[in-house]
Order: sequence, then structure tokens, then C-alpha cells
Amino acid sequence: MKKVFFLVVALVMLVCVSSASADIVIAFSQIGQESDWRTANTDDLKSAIENHPGWKLVYDDGQQKQENQIKALRNFITQNVNYILFTGVVSTGWDEVLKEVNEAEIPLLLVDRIPDCADKIDYVAAFGGDFVEEGRRQVAWAGEYLKKLGKGDEDVNVVIMEGTTGASAQTGRTEGNLKALKDYPHLKLVGQQSGNFTRAEGQAVMESWLKSIPKIDVLIAQNDDMALGAIDAIKAAGKVPGKDIIIVGCDSVKAAFDAIVAGEMNCTVECTPLYAEFVVPTIEALERGEKFDKTVIHPEEGVFDMDGGIDLGSVKSIKAADVIATRRY
Ligand code: AHR
Repeated sequence: MKKVFFLVVALVMLVCVSSASADIVIAFSQIGQESDWRTANTDDLKSAIENHPGWKLVYDDGQQKQENQIKALRNFITQNVNYILFTGVVSTGWDEVLKEVNEAEIPLLLVDRIPDCADKIDYVAAFGGDFVEEGRRQVAWAGEYLKKLGKGDEDVNVVIMEGTTGASAQTGRTEGNLKALKDYPHLKLVGQQSGNFTRAEGQAVMESWLKSIPKIDVLIAQNDDMALGAIDAIKAAGKVPGKDIIIVGCDSVKAAFDAIVAGEMNCTVECTPLYAEFVVPTIEALERGEKFDKTVIHPEEGVFDMDGGIDLGSVKSIKAADVIATRRY
């Protein structure tokens, strides 16, 4: 009897050990939690990996510091994880550590912000926002909206609130913003400053602009959190957001939809944080031995506003109120 008992215990232990060692360990180096977008992105990837049978997540929050992310990547190498998901707080300075990932032969998946060194390193798949196009859409929306209001020939003052300096989401959107401004010569750039993709800094930057710039007609905020912070500053200054100042955000988070429906924000250009639907099937396919091209896949994204119907060439805006109930973040 004793022998049978020990045999059963040994068998159970063997099953436990072998199923534990069969887990596929996916490590994720996240930037931080600066915005609603980032929270949605973290939740989406975390829950998809944690709920996937046979997968285990190792998560690291870099707290907006490149050195923390570099440390995390080196830890992942030491732990010999099976896959690394990576998005970098800034676009430069990753060459060395990502080469170390390559040398350790850990398959690397790039999500969201693609580092500048992407063409010099190996990665198995990449999914990220088309930040230049998002920036173009923001300014084009403002230009076309003003035409619709019959103000296409009036000079209007525009401020651009930028994201974290050096992040590809900032450099790309700024490039798109500035290029599109050339198509709308009546949009005059009167302010350009970083709000670091956070609500608090967005509010502070807008407060200082309202004191130092005599007239602001349009705010282009490179994410919704900064736009929402700016709305608080505009209200505190006794102005009416969405009317006295036209506000165009980016991301299309739930709070921006609410602000548009409430008439306090005019438009949000979508940048989806929902990458699990790309990452999960990709890792499953890699596990089956499939290979992917070294190309960056951009998800399809929309533009949402108060009334819909603004034609931006590549996309037509959709009335936010019509789709708010279907939004997932
Ligand atoms: O990289 C995506 C950007 O990062 C989002 O637009 C912003 O909200 C986030 O912090």
C-alpha cells in the first residue's frame, strides 16, 4: 500500500513538473502606464497571454525609463524565456540590447512602437501604428472641418501638443502633423510643445499656452489623454472646449468618445492598443513552425467625430455617438 502511495505521488509530481516545463514563457517589456491607451494595451496583451492554455506571462513595466526596459530585456535573456514582446519608450538606443536578444536566439515580436534599429536586428513579427498617417489625419480633419464650417479661407491659430519626445509615436505624428499643415496654409502653427502623453502634463501645457498665446483656435493633441487634460485647462480659463477651441485627439479611448458625445472634444484619430488579436495567432503559428515576413503590419484604424462624414482620403470620419457602444477600450 505504501509503495502504491509513493508511486502515485511520484507520478503526480512528474506530471506537474513536465506540464510546468511545457509552458511557453512569453515576456513583455511594457513602457509604463502613461495613458488610457497604454492601460488598455497592457490589459489586452496580459489577459490574452495569461488566459491562453500552456502560456505563461513574464511582465515588466518600464515606468517610462529606457534603462529599466534594457534591464528587463537582459533579465528575460537570463530567464531564457521563449518569446519577447517589446515596445520601446523612445525609438533610439536599443541596438545593443536587441542584438543580445538575437544572440540568445529568443524570438522577438515588436508591438506598437517600432525601434529605429529594426532593420539591423532580427524579429519574427512586428505590429505597430502608422503614426505618420495618424498625424496627417489629425491636421487634415481640422482643415476639412473648418472648410465644412465655411472657414476654410480664414487664418486660424493651431497648437500641436506632442507626445513623449523621441518616441516613435511622437516623431511620426509630428511628421504627419507638419506635412499636413502644408496642405492647409490657413492653419498657422503658433505653439508646439510636449505634454508627454499624460493628462496632467497636457493640462499644464494648455494652461501655459492660454496665458502666453493670445488666440488659439485649434488644438492638435497627439493623444487623447493630453486632449482631456487640455479640456480641463480650457474650462478653467472660462472657454468652451469643442467650440472656442477645436480639439483633435488621437487613440480613440472611451473617455475621448464620452467627451465628443458631450460636445467638449471634436475628433479622435484611432490608434488601436488591441494587439492581442495579432500577437496570439502569430505565436501560435510560430509554434507550428510557420515563418513571417519582416514587415511591419499596421492595423486598420478609423477617425471618430461629432457628426461623421469628413473625407480624409484614406478614410471617412464616423460619428462617435453611432459606435460608442461597440468600443472595447
Ligand atoms: O505608442 C502609442 C501611444 O503611446 C499612444 O498614442 C499614447 O496614448 C501612448 O502612450
